[in-house]
Amino acid sequence: MAGYFYARIFLNNPGIRDMFPVTMDVQRARLLGAIVTAVQSVDDPDRFDEYLRSLGRDHRKFQVVPEHYEVIGAALLEAIRTFAGPEWSHEYEQAWRDAYDVIARKMLSGATADSNPAWWHAEVVAHERRSRDIAVLTVRPFQQLEYRAGQYLSVEVPKFHPRVWRTYSVANAPRTDNTMDLHVRALGAGWVSGALVRRVQAGDLLRLAAPMGTMVLDRRSTRDIVFVAGGTGLSPIKALLEDLTTFNRTRWVHVFFGARDRDDLYDLGSLQALAAAYPWLSIVPVCSDDPGWGGEEGTVTDALNRFGPWMEHDFFVSGSPNMVRSTLRCLTQLKVPQTRVRYDAFSDH
Ligand SMILES: Cc1cc2nc3c(=O)[nH]c(=O)nc-3n(C[C@H](O)[C@H](O)[C@H](O)COP(=O)(O)OP(=O)(O)OC[C@H]3O[C@@H](n4cnc5c(N)ncnc54)[C@H](O)[C@@H]3O)c2cc1C
Ligand code: HEM
Repeated sequence: MAGYFYARIFLNNPGIRDMFPVTMDVQRARLLGAIVTAVQSVDDPDRFDEYLRSLGRDHRKFQVVPEHYEVIGAALLEAIRTFAGPEWSHEYEQAWRDAYDVIARKMLSGATADSNPAWWHAEVVAHERRSRDIAVLTVRPFQQLEYRAGQYLSVEVPKFHPRVWRTYSVANAPRTDNTMDLHVRALGAGWVSGALVRRVQAGDLLRLAAPMGTMVLDRRSTRDIVFVAGGTGLSPIKALLEDLTTFNRTRWVHVFFGARDRDDLYDLGSLQALAAAYPWLSIVPVCSDDPGWGGEEGTVTDALNRFGPWMEHDFFVSGSPNMVRSTLRCLTQLKVPQTRVRYDAFSDH
């Protein structure tokens, strides 16, 4: 169905092909899957209004204009109609059309309301390999880019993979020199992460877009905080820690930093330096596959279970989808109210 959907779009409007990555086999169903999910969630406006508005803002990086929404909507309906089988009816057709229109309108209104540039050109000013497959990059956008500590950005590496965008969290609170750090792990045959870790060098140019995400600090909360990070999931947590150093005096803060082995604890030194400077901060590194390494062993959830109690804390969780899922499960078992848990899972779904 995805093949048919894209064929409809590109055959009728060849110009649109240039907006998409050169090779589309890796994530063929990315856009189609996203639209179907959005349509099926249209009855939940509380949850999706802001998401759709920010998705519309984000789509400015693809240079989407209002007419494109009509093209995509028509291709969607044609694809569904073709593959739905005999049960398809006028009512279904109208329902999908209405839902798509609502979504498109929300995305377009988000896009028009945004006064920021559609993207920022940025230079890589430093590139440091920290482990087998992790690098820390410092990038400087040529124009001011406003974001909040804890948010993430879309990143494109035009030199190696034009028009392929992935999201990466900013690893620092906003700085006066406008630079920002990205912590990237190269994932298997992953396109963008592989390029960022293994090929990009200082002096290369990236494009950045659309700061997003709600994993930010609630300054009104007086509760102590637990940060749970898996691998480069540390990135937004580092930014939140830096943010805390500007105002926190009263809240105890614990960081559980999980990795496979000590090599993957790529930023432990700087976390320990922060903990030495701020008495309210304690760091618990945890390795799952490095017996006798000298610290906590097991998964971060094993370690969380060994410490505590945690019922009165604010939680922030960041890492791979598996790590986030198992941590959320553990927090539910520990009776932490869901309203106190914020998280970023490193997946698009
Ligand atoms: C909100 C958010 C924040 C994030 N922040 C960070 C961050 O701070 N740091 C970070 O490192 N990551 C972060 N990520 C993850 C990041 O966005 C990317 O998903 C990740 O880097 C992989 O992108 P890629 O292009 O390298 O991999 P892709 O090319 O998208 O591949 C993804 C996976 O599929 C596998 N794969 C690739 N090609 C194939 C194929 N042909 N067949 C089968 N499998 C294949 C790859 O090996 C990889 O495991 C974040 C994600 C989200 C959603
Ligand atoms: C209801 C309308 C739409 C929804 C819900 C939607 C949603 C999404 C989502 C969630 C993604 C993946 C996240 C990302 O890469 O930022 C995506 C990717 C993309 N969208 Fe949309 N989108 C819509 C309409 C459009 C339109 C009208 C265009 C213009 C042609 C468009 C062009 C793209 C492109 C080029 C990508 C990148 C695809 C890739 O990397 O393979 N989208 N869309």
